[in-house]
Amino acid sequence: MNPEPDTPAGHNEGRRTFLKHSSLLTAFTLVPGPVIQAASFELDEKVAAAFEKVPLKLEVNGKKYKLAVEPRTTLLDLLREELHLTGTKKGCDYGQCGACTVHVDGQRVNSCLSFAVMHEGRKVTTIEGLSDGDKLHPMQEAFVKHDGFQCGYCTPGQIMSAVACVREGHAGSETEIREYMSGNICRCGAYTNIVAAIQEVKNGGQKV
Ligand code: FES
Ligand code: FES
Repeated sequence: MNPEPDTPAGHNEGRRTFLKHSSLLTAFTLVPGPVIQAASFELDEKVAAAFEKVPLKLEVNGKKYKLAVEPRTTLLDLLREELHLTGTKKGCDYGQCGACTVHVDGQRVNSCLSFAVMHEGRKVTTIEGLSDGDKLHPMQEAFVKHDGFQCGYCTPGQIMSAVACVREGHAGSETEIREYMSGNICRCGAYTNIVAAIQEVKNGGQKV
């Protein structure tokens, strides 16, 4: 049975076309708003990033760099993503685990909490710069000797902090070492061996 016997075929066709067009128009007005906004926001971000870069001079592990960085780039991301020094680890990215510890002008710093541009003209040392060529730093040797690591993920940060701990004169006792190493978290719980390694370096009187 024809549901619309009195309606001319041409009229039905016109109605279908109209409905299709109006559905498309409705979809166009509903969907593209946020999508267009997001796309244009992403483009804006990219354009802004290209113009926002600021020059930065840095010495990393004895090598001088002239860089152009976005002001919001952290020292950690600069080291890992741009200079490919991946020995420094990203754990929490929130200042709470110490995996990203490096030295800036000899002071330990959580590189995830520090913007790269804050360190204009400074000297950064990462775990890659601690050894003397193939010769390990005494703290690295002590960590190996005392099994101061298991999975090894926190180890670069632990070693950088351990060296600073001895240099700062905060390795006088087990309690003091544990207190001044408390910003470095090891999920495997290698703390006893880490303390033993630090004590050996401290008591050995070697130059760190
Ligand atoms: S990654 Fe920086 S403190 Fe955890
Ligand atoms: S050695 Fe595994 S987290 Fe420290």
